[in-house]
Amino acid sequence: MACEIIQTVFIISVITGFLALLLVIAEALFVNYGECRIKINGKKELVVQGGGSLLSTLNDNKIFLASACGGRGSCGFCKCTISSGAGPLLPTEKPFLSEKEISDGVRLSCQVKVKQDLSIKIPEEIFNIRKFRAEVAKITDLTYDIKELTLKLVEPGTISFKAGQYVQLESPAYEKSRQSVQRAYSISSNPYQDDMIQLIIRRVPEGICTTYVFDYLKEGDKINFTGPFGDFFIRETEADMLFIAGGSGKAPIKSMIEFLDKIGSRRRMVYLFGARSTKDLYYTELFREYEKKLTNFSYVPVLSQPSEECEWKGRCGYIPPFIPEFLRDPVNTEAYLCGSPGMIDAVKKALLELGVPDNKIYFDSFA
Ligand SMILES: Cc1cc2nc3c(=O)[nH]c(=O)nc-3n(C[C@H](O)[C@H](O)[C@H](O)COP(=O)(O)OP(=O)(O)OC[C@H]3O[C@@H](n4cnc5c(N)ncnc54)[C@H](O)[C@@H]3O)c2cc1C
Ligand code: FES
Repeated sequence: MACEIIQTVFIISVITGFLALLLVIAEALFVNYGECRIKINGKKELVVQGGGSLLSTLNDNKIFLASACGGRGSCGFCKCTISSGAGPLLPTEKPFLSEKEISDGVRLSCQVKVKQDLSIKIPEEIFNIRKFRAEVAKITDLTYDIKELTLKLVEPGTISFKAGQYVQLESPAYEKSRQSVQRAYSISSNPYQDDMIQLIIRRVPEGICTTYVFDYLKEGDKINFTGPFGDFFIRETEADMLFIAGGSGKAPIKSMIEFLDKIGSRRRMVYLFGARSTKDLYYTELFREYEKKLTNFSYVPVLSQPSEECEWKGRCGYIPPFIPEFLRDPVNTEAYLCGSPGMIDAVKKALLELGVPDNKIYFDSFA
């Protein structure tokens, strides 16, 4: 009996899956949504060919919403408010939206298909986001799995961004990926250098964009990116600053420290850099120089697994237990965190327990 039930459920699932696939193929081949109008902020109107996602349709019209996952529905960055024409909310969107956002009509633009006229609202700053073409001026190995890319801007020739923001790099179609993809990378250079940007990229095994960068991209190549995106930037106050970031999460922090150096900041700053072993350390000399140049800055690498043969005299272990040592006045401290979602969750929990206010903890999660 149990075996028959399992068999029936299996057959129904196969048939349902097959019908869903047929519907997708039929829609792609035969349904023509024709011309649709997208009204933006009650002012601008685009006339577009229906059928694509709202994200890609806006992209084709040089309006670049944030999208760290390239439209796969896994980052939740591409939100926009849609007052009409969006169709029902999809299950793929729900995990990224609060009750309030749902009732306000916020949607994930990569999941909404343009099938009819739409009326949408997006922040005015989005119109400043541009598509850039750049030449790869230099590729530097920082560690065995981290590279620094120096991109000289070609068109437009300059960029304006805030230290801590990121761009979306376009990895073109190549033998490991039939489609071009976009991935988010924080700018590691400072905003005063406006004719180039630097990125710090860590290899992700089998990753589409990082494999392209590590194994295919060469100095002299041209590459596209859009930006700048993000609200991970320095708040203009006098509060103490605690930076915590490991691996390639050092990118936006480097940009921030360089910026603070340029403006001659005297704020109290500590940077706890988490790495596995000495072979994961990089830019150590550079940050030691900043310790000398900035009146009130300390750089503290913390190794989670220092190798036996190394003579590491610094701090060993995970970062949270070391935080109290550097926290002078929790209520008047701003924390800037960058790295994996797991690391951010652990550090945020520790900071809250130590009394750093939730609204002073800023982070970019490299999800
Ligand atoms: C705002 C923001 C800023 C970022 N800035 C940087 C940066 O400055 N430097 C940097 O190196 N990265 C940064 N990232 C991560 C980056 O956008 C990509 O996710 C990462 O480089 C992997 O891209 P990929 O195409 O090579 O891998 P994908 O093809 O997207 O992924 C391949 C597989 O690896 C998994 N995966 C994806 N990312 C990781 C990861 N980081 N670690 C382990 N497994 C992973 C995926 O789940 C998938 O299974 C940032 C992300 C965000 C959201
Ligand atoms: S682009 Fe990532 S969820 Fe839409």
